[in-house]
Amino acid sequence: MIARLSLTVALIALVIGAFISAPALAQQPLKIGLILPMTGPFASTGRQADAAVKLYIAEHGDVVAGRKIEVLLRDDANAPETTKRYAQELITNDHVEILAGFGLTPLAYAAAPVATAAKVPMIVMCAGTVNVPEKSPYIIRTSFTLPQNTAPIAVWAAKHGIKKVFTMVAEYAPGIDAETTFLNVFKAEGGQIVGSVRVPMQNPDYAPFVQRAKDAKPDALFVFVPSGEGAAVMKQFAERGLAQAGIKLIGTGDVVDDDILDSMGDPAIGTITSFHYSADHPSAENKAYVAASEKANPGMRPNFMSVGGWDGMMLIYEVLKKTNGSADGDKFLAAAEGMSLIGPQGKFTIDPKARDIIQDVYIRETKRVNGHLYNVEFDRIPNVQHNGKY
Ligand code: PHB
Repeated sequence: MIARLSLTVALIALVIGAFISAPALAQQPLKIGLILPMTGPFASTGRQADAAVKLYIAEHGDVVAGRKIEVLLRDDANAPETTKRYAQELITNDHVEILAGFGLTPLAYAAAPVATAAKVPMIVMCAGTVNVPEKSPYIIRTSFTLPQNTAPIAVWAAKHGIKKVFTMVAEYAPGIDAETTFLNVFKAEGGQIVGSVRVPMQNPDYAPFVQRAKDAKPDALFVFVPSGEGAAVMKQFAERGLAQAGIKLIGTGDVVDDDILDSMGDPAIGTITSFHYSADHPSAENKAYVAASEKANPGMRPNFMSVGGWDGMMLIYEVLKKTNGSADGDKFLAAAEGMSLIGPQGKFTIDPKARDIIQDVYIRETKRVNGHLYNVEFDRIPNVQHNGKY
């Protein structure tokens, strides 16, 4: 009798417990630690991604799968040790369940071991070196990769009468990715490389490198510099008269970044780049995106870093809907792998093996449209993988 009574009590306790714990989890806020360079030379990347995260929440509400989303923004000022410290503090002290952001590759590298140790999903919204997701099994990328954005322009150049190219890249991991991809693909297409330089990241002075490019008399100069640096390259390209010497400017779209493109003026016109996003992309989704973004952030045109932030938040929301609000690392990753979504750039898919983004890449020409500079897309290469294969 006593045994039966205690069994009944235990069962009642179990039932009550189940009722309490389900809504309790649902009502617990879900904190996301967003780490970005909000100050320093790459502050534009942080501003763009943060604004997109805010816009996504404003448009979709701050509750998903019953959980209130709270974003804790931290400024790492492009210092990897600061990124790592914030990642640790956000997890240990603030109990964030997801890490996001990562404006440059060294910052993503620094946070990766923290995500691995804590088994916390880490959404890379900005960095582009191809091996970033290999640094932690909890990384998913919604930005782009350098091989993805470089291979198409190498093929396009070889097929459009460009026989000799000089390459100039920023001297760090994404620059090496861009250089390696361009050299391999362009040579495989029958092209010739007449010189390659890597410009140091610390206070870069492009003048001597652009002069060396001019002296090598190529048909085109291929450039990769990270977002924010394009205007300085364009200034040297113009001052040293490369266009007058018959040298075309080609590159990944980072050099004609929408955030600063309009300030570059006429020297940017005619630049041919391959890239996954242009603010001029003529889809209904993108028109609405640019309009909403410019309304929320007067004077700022959304660029590819914005799109990485938006797509990253969309991925978080859609995954949480599938996991009923759980951000458990293994469950989150399993739900995200293979997911296809539509962002401002068009459809993208998370490659289930590489945990990386597959998306269309466009060939674009910088033109003046209604008085403003835009990268106008004229060719599309569908479903380019993280490794540049399509
Ligand atoms: C990177 O550091 O991975 C990075 C940053 C800015 C870019 C591209 C790549 O425009």
